[in-house]
Amino acid sequence: MPDKEAKIVFTPSGHRGRFPHGTQLLAAARSLGVDVDSVCGGRGLCGRCQVTCAEGEFAKHAIVSSAGNLSPAGEAERHYGERRKPLAAGRRLSCQAEIRGDLVIDVPPESQMHRQVVRKSAEYRDITLDTSIHLYYVEVQEASLDAPSGDLERLRQALAREWQLDELDADPSVLTRLQHALRDGGWKVTVAVHKQSRIIAVWAGFRRDAYGFAIDIGSTTIAAHLCNLTTGEVVATGGIMNPQIRFGEDLMSRVSYVMMHPEGCGELTDAVRAGLNGLIADIAADAGVERDDILEATIAGNPIMHHLFLGLSPVELGGAPFALTTDAALDLQARDLDLGINTGGVVYVLPCIAGHVGADAAAMILSEEPHLLDAISLVVDVGTNAEIVLGNRERLLACSSPTGPAFEGAQISCGQRAAPGAIERVRIDAESLEARFSVIGSELWSDEPDFADSIAGFGVTGICGSGIIEAVAEMYLAGLIDEDGVVDGSLAERSSRLIPDGRTWSFVLHDGCPAISVTQNDVRQIQLAKAALYAGVKLLMDRAGLHQVDRIRLAGAFGSHIDTKYAMVLGLIPDCDLDNVKSAGNAAGTGARIALLNRAARAEIETVVREIEKIETATEAKFQDYFVDAMAIPNKRDPFTCLFSAIQRPARKSVSGTRNASRRRRRKRVS
Ligand code: FES
Repeated sequence: MPDKEAKIVFTPSGHRGRFPHGTQLLAAARSLGVDVDSVCGGRGLCGRCQVTCAEGEFAKHAIVSSAGNLSPAGEAERHYGERRKPLAAGRRLSCQAEIRGDLVIDVPPESQMHRQVVRKSAEYRDITLDTSIHLYYVEVQEASLDAPSGDLERLRQALAREWQLDELDADPSVLTRLQHALRDGGWKVTVAVHKQSRIIAVWAGFRRDAYGFAIDIGSTTIAAHLCNLTTGEVVATGGIMNPQIRFGEDLMSRVSYVMMHPEGCGELTDAVRAGLNGLIADIAADAGVERDDILEATIAGNPIMHHLFLGLSPVELGGAPFALTTDAALDLQARDLDLGINTGGVVYVLPCIAGHVGADAAAMILSEEPHLLDAISLVVDVGTNAEIVLGNRERLLACSSPTGPAFEGAQISCGQRAAPGAIERVRIDAESLEARFSVIGSELWSDEPDFADSIAGFGVTGICGSGIIEAVAEMYLAGLIDEDGVVDGSLAERSSRLIPDGRTWSFVLHDGCPAISVTQNDVRQIQLAKAALYAGVKLLMDRAGLHQVDRIRLAGAFGSHIDTKYAMVLGLIPDCDLDNVKSAGNAAGTGARIALLNRAARAEIETVVREIEKIETATEAKFQDYFVDAMAIPNKRDPFTCLFSAIQRPARKSVSGTRNASRRRRRKRVS
């Protein structure tokens, strides 16, 4: 009865219309602008177009909807179930079902082309899926003497006819594969199209999935998320130590290496690319994904990592005016960067903010979105060079501050990287001055009965960045150090954990082999690092005319592991309601992932970055004053009212007054 019409409502979008009986459901959806996915062009191969028919009376729409108002499942749907997996109860392929009566049709999230990729944890934000790469399955007219055009031209015609994709370019790698793909696939191929304008890959037959990597190149670690570009899911994640570490632990020593060795830049570039390719290969193998199926990568990294990965000399970034080769976002070919993905693959490099605030900070902004909020946000990537962003939707400022490697456990007497056996949590009883701790690799505290068994494989080996932060903060709260950071040797009478150490005192956390202590110099190193960070924050607050911030996010491998309360007790970050201070996890990696999955986010961050006010801490006269004030715990001048309304402030005392007495006691003890 082709002249009969049916009323159709699509949920959740609410699109509605009238269609003649016999209309294909997918065609009806498309004509109304309903967001339904498809890779196979309605051939019943991809399963992306699944919908559910709602049953019952819908008074609001004046519709009685029933699955019986759709054509019965046919051969193609049965075939799909046999080839892949049977359709769930009530599900239909909208490209196969025909309208036979009134319907309310639900388009589930996984069938929507621009679906939300739903947050699974703090690191996984909701992202609207809108990738720069799409797959298209096409049937190409066979080559014949009667139609003497080239294979590429006939592929283009098919894409224009079936998918309305006109005037597509083709990557040279596609040309080398096209003839095989067409003949192997029986003239049926799947192509990947970048930005609706360029064919970058071709495969024989039908391909359902394409993949991409979101990569954060840090000076210490490289982290990568493998994402399915057609579903938005993270299918695997991994990380490695940055192999450039053998050329220098911190950024400046790597720049120095390049300055002193003519071939140094190439060596560092080769090292990071080789490390990254090994990581890509391992993650892909774990996930069962072929290199050829990986079509895109997005890259975030600090300016020096950014330059070295791209093969650019970082020498100019080693000193004022910290000139970047380019601060723009870059669209590059994967093969030009020796990246081990599909040879036609593409790479998007996020923009840098300034010569010392990089693409990792740009990615961090995408992840934390301070530019979309009314509230004043402070977002800090706490690393050897802290990158700091402050502001809200009206104004954003950024700077970096040279915190040095103390937060990563370097320059600390028993310091080590975060690894099994490293002390990461510390508690000190203010009355007894007894300490307990936990180490990475065990859930137990050191005073719990099974602790020794739980660490049998690795023991207590040192103290990592988050551990030293907690140790120093707890020492301050217990009165073991004063606000100037001086270890109070006069308390040695009350605690055997305080031991003389030259002209100063150390506090023993673990009396084993090796013994783990916090020395006076360790406390100083943490004070220097946190004072540099805080001084940078104060400069930004000054420039913005702010006296307080509404929310704080700590990002980066270290920032996301420190207890935010202890960070504030030490005065690493300004006073703020503790409930509004949170870890942002690997925000740079999350931002790279957002850029991978959502094209609009790229344009957004490119605009935001252009408008950020950049502050150069090295040339600001006030930096030194703020730094000196911030050497105190938590700060010489700033009162930290919110913090001390939530926790007990230790009684103020000056250890220097008791120093002479403690020196006498120490001499006695040593003799
Ligand atoms: Fe591919 Fe329906 S569009 S199965």
